Amino acid sequence: MTERPSLSVSLGKLELKNPVILASGTVGYGEEYGRLFDLGRLGAITVKGLSLKPRPGHPAPRLCETPSGLLNAIGLHNVGLEVFVADKLPFLRKQNLKVMVNVFGETTEEYVELAEALSRADGVHALELNISCPNTKRGGLSFGSDLEATTALVAAVRRATPLPLFVKLSPNVADLVPFAKACEEQGADGLSLINTIRGMAIDVDTRRPKLTTVIGGLSGPAIRPVAVRMVWEVTRAVRLPVIGMGGIATADDAVEFLLAGASAVAIGSANFADPAASLKVLAGLERHLVRHRMTDVRQLIGALVIDGSSD
Ligand SMILES: Cc1cc2nc3c(=O)[nH]c(=O)nc-3n(C[C@H](O)[C@H](O)[C@H](O)COP(=O)(O)O)c2cc1C
Repeated sequence: MTERPSLSVSLGKLELKNPVILASGTVGYGEEYGRLFDLGRLGAITVKGLSLKPRPGHPAPRLCETPSGLLNAIGLHNVGLEVFVADKLPFLRKQNLKVMVNVFGETTEEYVELAEALSRADGVHALELNISCPNTKRGGLSFGSDLEATTALVAAVRRATPLPLFVKLSPNVADLVPFAKACEEQGADGLSLINTIRGMAIDVDTRRPKLTTVIGGLSGPAIRPVAVRMVWEVTRAVRLPVIGMGGIATADDAVEFLLAGASAVAIGSANFADPAASLKVLAGLERHLVRHRMTDVRQLIGALVIDGSSD
């Protein structure tokens, strides 16, 4: 019998037993999914974006299906820091997987306060900065589309936490590379990409937008080629490990991201169609390695072949 391939990966200081992660905002705090399967089979969970205070999010409708995609305008509905630490972390601590907390604020100070508090909490293995949020001190322009604000934010949070620090880049910019480089220079341990792409859908009979917020974030297979391209561009430009995401629903989709240079993958919208999607991706990834006679998943990372290229 052939030996099973090794699936473990290192994202800087963060070691995962396998590269499959549940993406932020699509599995809450893991409790419901934990009733369906053993979360410990996966590498990590990234919990819903957390703020200092609880937030109710936007009014419905805040989700709408589009061709091969999903538009959402949840509005970062979450329980807030206090409830997360008291009520959600105890459950997550008992699961045998790494817990990444996705955090956001409206000012740098809010991010710093969250990072400090979560660094003291037992059971948090890494932070993921969601920078696709309006920066109230810069007229509501999102941190992630403002290079100066991104640089200052990563520097400030880096000083505030010893935890592995991942920055989730916003794809809503012309060129992600300067943002990725700024994160690397300011001491981030890794990058997550991509977050949702701004989109809009209209009901032609009522002539009204399908989301109350008019504009939402597009996810799902519709964005996958954009995400793969961004992972490829970014991993060629920086040395930081990247968690790739955007429309991953099958093992082949995950392999695409790994070949493009991602060191791990996150599954988001696919969980809604099939709560076992992440497990199927993991099993299929292992089968892919066996089929291609590979002994270690790391052999796939950045292994894209471009014929005729000297790279
Ligand atoms: C309903 C929903 C809620 C989300 N909430 C968050 C969030 O709180 N923080 C965040 O950084 N990303 C959030 N995302 C983005 C996902 O984590 C992921 O980056 C994106 O959806 C692309 O992956 P996918 O196509 O597999 O869903 C959310 C996505 C969806 C669909």
